[in-house]
Amino acid sequence: MSPSGLLRGACRTTLISLLLVCCLLPPGAQGQKFPLRVEPQNPVLPAGGSFLVNCSTDCPNPKLITLETSLPKKPVGNGLGWAAFQLSSVTSDSQVLCSGFCDGFQMTASSDITVYRFPERVELAPLPRWQPVGENLTLRCQVAGGAPRTNLTVVLLRGEEELSRQPAVGEPAEATVTVLAGRDDHLANFSCRTELDLRSRGLGLFQNSSAPRQLRTFALPVTPPHLVVPRLLEVGTTWSVNCTLDRLFPASEAQVQLALGNQMLNPAVESHGDTITATATVTASAEQEGAREIVCNLTLGSDSREARENLTIYSFWGPILNLSESSASEGTEVTVTCAAGARVQVTLEGVPAAAPGQPAQLQLITTERDDRRNFSCNATLEVDREILHRNRSVQLRVLYGPKIDQAKCPQRLTWKDRTTNVLRCQAQGNPDPELHCFQEGSWNEVPVGIPFTVMLNYSGTYSCRAVSSRGTYTVTVVMNVQGRNAHAVTIVMVVLVTLGLVTTTAALVYVFGLQKRSDIYQVNQGSTWLPLTSRKPEEAVGEGPS
Ligand SMILES: *[C@@H]1O[C@H](CO)[C@@H](O)[C@H](O)[C@H]1NC(C)=O
Ligand SMILES: *[C@@H]1O[C@H](CO)[C@@H](O)[C@H](O)[C@H]1NC(C)=O
Ligand SMILES: *[C@@H]1O[C@H](CO)[C@@H](O)[C@H](O)[C@H]1NC(C)=O
Ligand SMILES: *[C@@H]1O[C@H](CO)[C@@H](O)[C@H](O)[C@H]1NC(C)=O
Ligand SMILES: *[C@@H]1O[C@H](CO)[C@@H](O)[C@H](O)[C@H]1NC(C)=O
Ligand SMILES: *[C@@H]1O[C@H](CO)[C@@H](O)[C@H](O)[C@H]1NC(C)=O
Ligand SMILES: *[C@@H]1O[C@H](CO)[C@@H](O)[C@H](O)[C@H]1NC(C)=O
Ligand SMILES: *[C@@H]1O[C@H](CO)[C@@H](O)[C@H](O)[C@H]1NC(C)=O
Ligand SMILES: *[C@@H]1O[C@H](CO)[C@@H](O)[C@H](O)[C@H]1NC(C)=O
Ligand SMILES: *[C@@H]1O[C@H](CO)[C@@H](O)[C@H](O)[C@H]1NC(C)=O
Ligand SMILES: *[C@@H]1O[C@H](CO)[C@@H](O)[C@H](O)[C@H]1NC(C)=O
Ligand SMILES: *[C@@H]1O[C@H](CO)[C@@H](O)[C@H](O)[C@H]1NC(C)=O
Repeated sequence: MSPSGLLRGACRTTLISLLLVCCLLPPGAQGQKFPLRVEPQNPVLPAGGSFLVNCSTDCPNPKLITLETSLPKKPVGNGLGWAAFQLSSVTSDSQVLCSGFCDGFQMTASSDITVYRFPERVELAPLPRWQPVGENLTLRCQVAGGAPRTNLTVVLLRGEEELSRQPAVGEPAEATVTVLAGRDDHLANFSCRTELDLRSRGLGLFQNSSAPRQLRTFALPVTPPHLVVPRLLEVGTTWSVNCTLDRLFPASEAQVQLALGNQMLNPAVESHGDTITATATVTASAEQEGAREIVCNLTLGSDSREARENLTIYSFWGPILNLSESSASEGTEVTVTCAAGARVQVTLEGVPAAAPGQPAQLQLITTERDDRRNFSCNATLEVDREILHRNRSVQLRVLYGPKIDQAKCPQRLTWKDRTTNVLRCQAQGNPDPELHCFQEGSWNEVPVGIPFTVMLNYSGTYSCRAVSSRGTYTVTVVMNVQGRNAHAVTIVMVVLVTLGLVTTTAALVYVFGLQKRSDIYQVNQGSTWLPLTSRKPEEAVGEGPS
């Protein structure tokens, strides 16, 4: 048998004896004349305590004053009309009964003992680690022990705000309340408190509180994050990958993982208001070539959202366009090669290579017309149904010359004295030749290609030389400068005019003489004078070579 069982047994015997006493007493007993008092009356005591009970009466000759109780008792004194007992180990509510006799009549009186005790345990059940905003949260508070239960209340609190107040019922007592979690509840502290109100019994209001529990709420929309990635990414290039999501709460607590294939990226995460943005830079490596998946996994609270995008990592090497000689002498063979990476189709000067990945080649014997000729190579690569183009061009230099184009350099020139003329001669070649024309004998130089005034002494044979590091090319030009003889012309004119005048005069004299004799005369109006014309010097006339 447990000690409480023993106690209950003791209680039962006390009750039986009380009933017996009551039944044995005749109704309206004379003992009532001198009532028996029990002190204290209906006390409220802390559990486990001890206290003194005094049974007293005003009866002049009382007898056998005793105390009936299931509690351990010890007489502590008595006197005329009283007896006091010390009761100890008061653990539960009980009743004590004083009895005695007065003039042969039995007297009785009782007192109810109420035990109070604080709860042993007040505990708020653990909260979810993360509570979604907009969902109901049930707070549960458990209270073990605590008496008297009729005066024990459980209060559920958010911070200092009372959410619910309910009596403690059951053992352990459980109080619950359901609240709709909101953003305001993020980081709020929830707790529960018991109140043992014994103020009506002359004692205080005793409170016991649970440890607070902090709630974290979150809001994560059902939509997946927005992931911006290029569809194609070339090996060696760097791109930024963005993953964003809106309407998050609290955005600063969100965590973002970005992975390319099985490589974790290291995104920089920023939150502004309700929006989170994770940006990572990706440098595609050769090992990752092929179809890859990029995953953005956003975790907030107890939930996560993810977005996936496919991208293709490719390498596009080339085209590399090579000349066997970038500067070749005229007449030599030059090979043009265009090569590119595997799977790349190259087309050199419009002629495609045999197969993708193969180089394209072309050979030529250089002529001067090939100097500065551009060769272009076009490379195409198909990646994920998209065709990428790339081209290169290279310029060939052909070393030739020096030479003088005879068509552009007249070899016979006839010019008038003191006129302005241009010696039009051109030299070709790579490297560019220098062209100079010198008069044979005097070695006087005449300018080439720029206007100059010719003199009579310019007449002669000229040697025009084009000179480059590759040699010399000479063309002979004969220049004939004619004098004007202006004085002689004037004399001839004067003689001719005088001659004309003399002839006319003679003729008139003769005609008048005849007319006087025949009375008929006629004047011939037809002019016989010679016109005097000044002729401009003729332009130099170039004589073309044969
Ligand atoms: C018990 O009560 C009587 C009468 O009121 C009093 O005289 C006596 O001193 C009390 N005894 C104790 C121990 O308080
Ligand atoms: C939350 O609980 C209340 C009743 O306590 C109910 O009316 C409401 O529909 C619940 N809300 C949600 C989102 O479950
Ligand atoms: C305490 O309990 C008693 C007895 O049940 C009752 O009469 C009293 O009103 C209660 N007081 C409070 C504050 O609940
Ligand atoms: C909740 O409690 C923690 C620590 O006990 C405290 O730092 C925090 O400020 C409290 N929160 C609120 C909203 O009072
Ligand atoms: C309950 O509160 C009382 C005072 O109100 C205190 O003496 C007691 O130690 C508390 N109990 C616990 C378990 O904290
Ligand atoms: C990614 O975000 C950064 C900063 O917000 C922005 O500068 C960049 O243009 C974005 N890139 C793409 C591909 O959207
Ligand atoms: C996203 O990340 C979280 C935390 O790292 C993980 O628990 C979850 O399984 C991930 N989700 C997916 C689909 O990979
Ligand atoms: C990515 O590729 C896989 C298989 O190649 C395909 O099943 C999936 O739908 C693609 N995802 C997207 C977002 O295009
Ligand atoms: C092009 O020339 C470079 C050096 O001049 C050489 O390393 C390379 O192999 C050549 N490429 C081809 C395709 O001929
Ligand atoms: C060759 O290309 C260069 C620039 O790459 C250009 O300046 C030049 O005119 C081109 N030559 C010819 C003959 O097209
Ligand atoms: C390169 O070739 C493709 C097709 O082979 C053609 O569409 C494109 O115009 C070419 N580009 C050049 C610059 O020749
Ligand atoms: C080569 O490609 C560039 C752009 O990719 C283009 O601007 C250029 O015109 C192309 N050159 C030739 C010769 O097609």
